[in-house]
Amino acid sequence: LITIRELYREKEKFIGKEITVGGWVRSIRDSKAFGFIVLHDGTYFETLQIVYHDTMENFAEVSKLNVGSALIIKGELVATPDAKQPFEIQAVSIEIEGASQADYPLQKKRHSLEFLRTISHLRPRTNTFQAVFRVRSLIAYAIHKYFQDRDFVYVHTPLITGSDAEGAGEMFQVTTLDLEKIPFTPEGKVDFKEDFFGKATNLTVSGQLNGETYAMAFRNIYTFGPTFRAENSNTTRHAAEFWMIEPEIAFADLKDDMALAEGMIKFVIRYVLENAPEEMKFFNEFVDKGLLERLTHVMNSDFGHVTYTEAIELLEKNNDKFEYKVSWGSDLQTEHERYLTEEIYKKPVFVTDYPKDIKAFYMKLNEDNKTVAAMDLLVPGIGEIIGGSQREDDYDKLTARMDELGLKKEDYDFYLDLRRYGSARHAGFGLGFERCVMYLTGMGNIRDVVPFPRTVNNCEL
Ligand code: 4AD
Ligand code: MG
Repeated sequence: LITIRELYREKEKFIGKEITVGGWVRSIRDSKAFGFIVLHDGTYFETLQIVYHDTMENFAEVSKLNVGSALIIKGELVATPDAKQPFEIQAVSIEIEGASQADYPLQKKRHSLEFLRTISHLRPRTNTFQAVFRVRSLIAYAIHKYFQDRDFVYVHTPLITGSDAEGAGEMFQVTTLDLEKIPFTPEGKVDFKEDFFGKATNLTVSGQLNGETYAMAFRNIYTFGPTFRAENSNTTRHAAEFWMIEPEIAFADLKDDMALAEGMIKFVIRYVLENAPEEMKFFNEFVDKGLLERLTHVMNSDFGHVTYTEAIELLEKNNDKFEYKVSWGSDLQTEHERYLTEEIYKKPVFVTDYPKDIKAFYMKLNEDNKTVAAMDLLVPGIGEIIGGSQREDDYDKLTARMDELGLKKEDYDFYLDLRRYGSARHAGFGLGFERCVMYLTGMGNIRDVVPFPRTVNNCEL
């Protein structure tokens, strides 16, 4: 079978030839002696028009087909210089691979994203989701390319783990224990010693701690895998299962970390604009007018930089505009992040040096003893898409901080070893893959950039 993508790529080679294509009916109409089918084959954003005639022996049967039917079509590809599309097929034969029933939920009209969310197994057949998921695939590839071109080693960190990398307690527990007859310790706690791993385990919230161990062996590494968070936040940018990219670089500080992040975002934007022009044009027209102009600008200008302390000063002046008022020490909410990046900077901005008390235990303490070498990258329309930091590489400072937070050092023995045996300056960050896809497509809801979203109260398919 020839694909529609191949036809567009090498039009000259196929015009005037008899070819065979396979795909699904997007729309079909007929008059007495002939009919038209708009065929989509999933390989390219454009569709292909098929003209068929009553000289075909199954003309009547074909004319009765419903939208969604799967067909194999043989015919001549003819140029159509006056039509919207450059060519069409004059069918010689149409083989019905699988007819679609009349109650097919995807009809020719535009469906709302809310409705399409209820049929996540069928929505990839629509224009919008064809564009979203092809671009999602390309972004993943571009991210790998960015790191591989720079000799980073891709590390597969485990999904089942015994630690809470972020210390936020937002974990899905993993257990094989029978909930009906859970074994309890004499103190009345669940006895995880009886469980599969002989201890309590959970799905990973981040691959960072494991990633750091490989950075201390390979220097530059990255992870790219699923992460899980049981955050009870029902927002347009939180999913319970999402993918994260976590590079970790040795002999590097926070500045190097930010340069790596900025370079990556720009590389990925350029890659997608070059490799999915039809899809990006579609988003620009139907999803987010101004997307292309914005991304082009981002690609060609420097990101902003502001310290947390400066950001709070800027935000405090606008406290009347916020639901949550900020002061030094407050965690930034989405409304504050968006205000900074949309109203003040109007471009991506790194916020650095947050108070240690609102960040994770592993971040490097700054000389002021109050802030840590952390950075969040905020972008218009979303807020935080990247969180990163230089890591505390000093054994004494790290263990002191763990004691302050009441973390059990035995649980982090492997992590502390990195500070015992040849500790080196290092830094890294985590890019939320879905948020990156939202940013590049203009899609407003994380549920619409994940093939099968998992959010609070929703785990279908
Ligand atoms: O800021 P976070 O929590 O940072 C970490 O996990 C670090 N270990 C990263 C590192 O330094 N290696 O998460 C990183 C990013 C966020 O900026 C956000 O884009 C995304 O992960 N993220 C989520 N995306 C979707 N749904 C959620 N529930 C998310 N939680 C975080
Ligand atoms: Mg964060």
